Amino acid sequence: MPKIVVLPGDGVGPEVTDCAVAVLTRISQERDLDFTFQYDLVGGAAIDRYGVPLREETLDLCRCSDAVLLGAVGGPQWDSTDPTAPHPEEALLGLRKGLGLFANLRPVRLFPDLIAASPLKKEVVEGTDIVVVRELTGDVYFGEKGREKKNSSEVAFDTMIYSREEVERIVRVAFDIARKRNKRLTSVDKANILESSRLWREVTNAVAQEYPQVKLVHLYVDNAAMQLVLNPRQFDVVVTSNLFGDILSDEAAILTGSIGMLPSASLGGKMFGLYEPVHGSAPDLAGKDVANPMAAILSAALMLRFSFDLDHEARVIEQAVEKIIEKGYRTQDIYTPGTTLVGTRETCSLVIENMNLP
Ligand code: IPM
Ligand code: MG
Repeated sequence: MPKIVVLPGDGVGPEVTDCAVAVLTRISQERDLDFTFQYDLVGGAAIDRYGVPLREETLDLCRCSDAVLLGAVGGPQWDSTDPTAPHPEEALLGLRKGLGLFANLRPVRLFPDLIAASPLKKEVVEGTDIVVVRELTGDVYFGEKGREKKNSSEVAFDTMIYSREEVERIVRVAFDIARKRNKRLTSVDKANILESSRLWREVTNAVAQEYPQVKLVHLYVDNAAMQLVLNPRQFDVVVTSNLFGDILSDEAAILTGSIGMLPSASLGGKMFGLYEPVHGSAPDLAGKDVANPMAAILSAALMLRFSFDLDHEARVIEQAVEKIIEKGYRTQDIYTPGTTLVGTRETCSLVIENMNLP
């Protein structure tokens, strides 16, 4: 019996994960998969209930499951600059580290019918189809950090650190993906300045020897940020470190017009993974039935593909999403005059109705 842990989190998290669960339930019934769903609190919801954003029990529950579906965490009521106060975002870092999810995949694909929603001109953005592969358990996020007194002044520091093995395994994931796609890999670093980036580049070049069929290009991160808006079609697979990936994946995401459409998968090498929409908790939209559930639904599709090897069923969901976009149904974030405005729940029902599951 495949076990899925659902961590709805905060803000719009619960309503969009409800949609993803409804879609998975439908697939499970049609295919006799017997999916079971176990729920737990993370983020602000867990702080309110237990005083911490992520409990050890929650990590254990995830470790005993086949896949995790996450909504979003955070909200203004938990924002505090007090370093001793619990922060909802720590739940994400704890899940990534605690579950060994080192590879974050963020596919950025433009839906042809949504081109008008993109901030870029049609002729620039048309045909964009990128997978950002972001390292997720190293770098400045997990390096030594702290505050101290130096020459009678207070200083704060975060350490950007990577081991050879950490770089090697993420770069290998990216090469494997590139090999199955258009065979172009862009590795992004800051090797003109940073020692950790020099190691990154050295290891990437070494791994490249095993993938002669993939064309590898190195870009400095500042140039990569510019190239993404100048000519996004030049990119196929992009691999980069945790911090650069955080920044570039948001930039890449908005090329498609709405971050409300983008799923992500965080993988740890085997089939197990955590799936979540790229958008955050959007507290201002919560509880109003207006949030776009597509990113969560498409994250469920990625779960079927990567954790359950159900590529066909994943395609069925993706095609249903494409179909209802084509038919002109839009949540408010992607609404343009002349299309039909729908809410969260209605979007979910439309996706389920349009799933072609013979
Ligand atoms: C993301 C988010 C997180 C990150 C934050 C909320 C900790 O921005 O998943 O991209 O920086 O990784
Ligand atoms: Mg981010």
